[in-house]
Amino acid sequence: PDPASSHPQMEEVPLLRGSNCRAKGAAPGFKVAILGAAGGIGQPLALLMKMNPLVSVLHLYDVVNTPGVTADISHMNTGAVVRGFLGQPQLENALTGMDLVVIPAGVPRKPGMTRDDLFNINAGIVRTLCEGIAKCCPKAIVNVISNPVNSTVPIAAEVFKKAGTYDPKRLLGVTTLDVGEVLGLDPREVNVPVVGGHAGVTILPLLSQVNPACSFTSEEVNHLTSRIQNGGTEVVEAKAGAGSATLSMAYAAAKFADACLRGLRGDAGIVECSYVASQVTELPFFASKVRLGRSGVEEILPLGPLNEFERAGLEKAKKELAQSIQKGVTFINK
Ligand code: NAD
Ligand code: LMR
Repeated sequence: PDPASSHPQMEEVPLLRGSNCRAKGAAPGFKVAILGAAGGIGQPLALLMKMNPLVSVLHLYDVVNTPGVTADISHMNTGAVVRGFLGQPQLENALTGMDLVVIPAGVPRKPGMTRDDLFNINAGIVRTLCEGIAKCCPKAIVNVISNPVNSTVPIAAEVFKKAGTYDPKRLLGVTTLDVGEVLGLDPREVNVPVVGGHAGVTILPLLSQVNPACSFTSEEVNHLTSRIQNGGTEVVEAKAGAGSATLSMAYAAAKFADACLRGLRGDAGIVECSYVASQVTELPFFASKVRLGRSGVEEILPLGPLNEFERAGLEKAKKELAQSIQKGVTFINK
């Protein structure tokens, strides 16, 4: 079925490209779907993906408000053709033919909540969306943003295993953090590997591996580690009940999606931190630097040398991570 027909407002688009019109069709590029596209992350992410020259087709799916968001985004004069899809009956059309699916669907935290407190609602949402992916675009690269990422990525993996479509190289949890401002350095110049997972003590910055190299006192290391682990919580508290990080997250997710697309295109040397199926530790999932390529995650890079503080952090992270992974696996197999 033609996805364009799934949204009446979008049928106007071909009329703008009549036979007298010199405008060409969609530029060659990748097809990207955003699931949860009308949300706090979804909307600015849709805007940023519409600006990405690697994207030829952009599908915006949500259970509310996609007609308005899609109409709005479609007025941006960039190359990607945008289509809106509203509600579960249109999920399959939203997903068919996609190269990359980005999932920011689900509820965000309020002050006092952990990411795990979102499990009861978001686990079911991610399951349903991944069932759709397994059916309609089993070869797509999947970027999971919905929290708790430590559990939603294992949930996605279990759904894909059940459907017989699981390819660990194509499933990536988005865990990108930017700590430049905290370090007092130009954020464009600083790279901090953040490994482990994506909640509290599982977020493990390797400050001994900051690039370009910086040296910190143990007081600074304690302070920076805690700021990085609580970066999301700082935003939740500042928003005082109105949600969690959306704008910075959309930016991080758009950069991460772009890295995945450049990998698919065959660019060399693309390395990002991501929460993926991994053998870096004894846990089945772990966030670390990965090299992206045509098939998704082509190489998981080793953690590198850890100092004593980081080794202690790793042990704490693994304990919590193991429980979150198991919780996700059990949710699908119970
Ligand atoms: P939001 O409430 O503003 O938006 C979520 C959107 O998801 C809404 O538009 C909602 O209608 C939609 N949605 C709900 N159920 C759906 C379904 N079944 N199918 C499709 N769409 C559905 O929330 P937000 O601020 O955009 O955050 C979204 C998620 O991202 C939260 O779980 C949040 O914790 C998480 N998050 C993760 C990171 C990260 O680093 N991985 C960062 C920030 C937020
Ligand atoms: C995150 O890092 O997951 C986001 O900032 C959202 C949150 O709940 O902290």
